Amino acid sequence: MALTDERLQMALLPRPVRFFERVESTNDEAVAWLQSGAEHGAVVVADEQTAGRGRMGRTWHTPPGVALAVSVILKVNPAFITQINMAGTLAVCQMLDIAKLDNIAAKWPNDVLVNGKKISGILPEATWEGDQLQGVVLGIGVNVRNTFSADLAQQATSIEAETQREQDRAALLTVLLFHLEQQLGRLGTAALCDDYKARLSMLGQPVAVAVDGVPVHGIASDIDEQGALVLTKADGETIHVFASDATVLHQGA
Ligand code: BTN
Repeated sequence: MALTDERLQMALLPRPVRFFERVESTNDEAVAWLQSGAEHGAVVVADEQTAGRGRMGRTWHTPPGVALAVSVILKVNPAFITQINMAGTLAVCQMLDIAKLDNIAAKWPNDVLVNGKKISGILPEATWEGDQLQGVVLGIGVNVRNTFSADLAQQATSIEAETQREQDRAALLTVLLFHLEQQLGRLGTAALCDDYKARLSMLGQPVAVAVDGVPVHGIASDIDEQGALVLTKADGETIHVFASDATVLHQGA
């Protein structure tokens, strides 16, 4: 079923929604809307993104008619901003549970995998005015019926590929935003972090992360309450790595 402005305005009541058939990036639109006075909970949705952005300057492809590309404007306590990716990741996992997918796992910091393949990526971006937080734009991309080249199909999947059923993107979005709201209500609680850890497949495994561009190897031993990865190095030293300055380079078997 097509995503239309009318369907979304109905499905996502009572949130303010801006729907674009085609836009460069929903995150960019949401940041502009935030700066011109959008309220907490306002949502930007696009059917197609022509310059969708991923983490670390990567491109995120959103061809027309096949995916969810959504950005939610959040006005939260600055103390909680590093936990927003955990809330977003959990909401995506819950939406996938409801769509009856199996083998769903979070991959720190911001990915969701199904059967080991990426199905969703999350991009939280904070906007500051001096030392005042204006808000956070939480961008979420989910592959619904994307098709992938043979190479990419080794690493990426979609909801329809996993379920073999046609999916209604407006209905998925309603479920996603419902769970996101619930998870955001748990910011600052240990339970949010515990639930996030329970979804991770990498705890206890050897990983390599780049810290300031330098690969650091260790065991992914924990996630702290801020959402940082706790890495235990071979010499026993532990370091806390934030998403903003680290990338998981590989995951041990
Ligand atoms: C990643 O895995 O690197 C994060 C991908 C985030 C993609 C979403 S799609 C909606 C929002 N708009 C963007 O330009 N990016 C995010």
